[in-house]
Amino acid sequence: MAYLDGLKVTLLISFMAILLGIAIGVVVAILKVASSNYKIKWLTRICNIYINIIRGTPLMVQLLIIYNLIFNSRNTNELVIGAVCFGINSGAYVAEIIRAGIESIDKGQMEAGRSLGFNYIKTMRLIILPQAVKNILPALGNEFIVLIKETSVAGVIAVTDLTKAAQYVGSRTWDILPPLIIAALCYLVIVMGLSRLLSVFERRLSKGDRH
Ligand code: ARG
Repeated sequence: MAYLDGLKVTLLISFMAILLGIAIGVVVAILKVASSNYKIKWLTRICNIYINIIRGTPLMVQLLIIYNLIFNSRNTNELVIGAVCFGINSGAYVAEIIRAGIESIDKGQMEAGRSLGFNYIKTMRLIILPQAVKNILPALGNEFIVLIKETSVAGVIAVTDLTKAAQYVGSRTWDILPPLIIAALCYLVIVMGLSRLLSVFERRLSKGDRH
C-alpha cells in the first residue's frame, strides 16, 4: 500500500535524522561551550559557521545541494542521503538548544564538579548535562516535531515519503485532495502522539524536583 510504504519512509527518515541530529547537536554544543570557556577561538568559529550556514539557508536547498553535489553517485540511497541531510540540519538547531541548556545551569555546578576531582568532560556528563536535559526537553521536543513535518520536502530528492506517496495516489486517482488530507491526518497523529509522549516524559523528570 502506497501510504503505508510512504509512512514507513517518513518514520525511518525522521528517526535516523533525530538520532544523528542529537549526536551532532551534543558534540557541537559541548565544543562550542568548551571552546569559549577555554578561549579556543578557531573552534568556536567553526561551530558558529556550521550553525549559521545551516540555519541561514533553506532546508530544501541544503537537501538539493547535498543530493546533487556531494552524494551524486548512482549507488547512494536517497533515503540515506535524506536522513543524513535532515540530521545535519537538525544538529545545528539541537546544538543551539543544548548550548542554551548548558548555559542555563549555574556556574557553581561546574566548579563543584571540578572541586570533586572530576575533569571537564566528566563534570559535563555527570552533572551539567543531566540537569540541562530537564530544562531543554520542551525545546528539544519541539525540534523533533518540526523535523518530522519538515521531512515532507524529501520528495524533491526522489524519496517516496508520506507526502510523495499521497501525491502519487492522487495522480493515479485524478483526485489529489483526499490523499493529501489523509497524509495530513497521518502527520497530525504522529505529531500528537510524540507530543503526548514528551509531556509524559517531562512530567516524570520534573517529579524529582518536588520535595
Ligand atoms: N523550513 C525551514 C527551513 O527550510 C525550517 C527548517 C527547520 N529545521 C529544523 N530542523 N528545525 O530552513
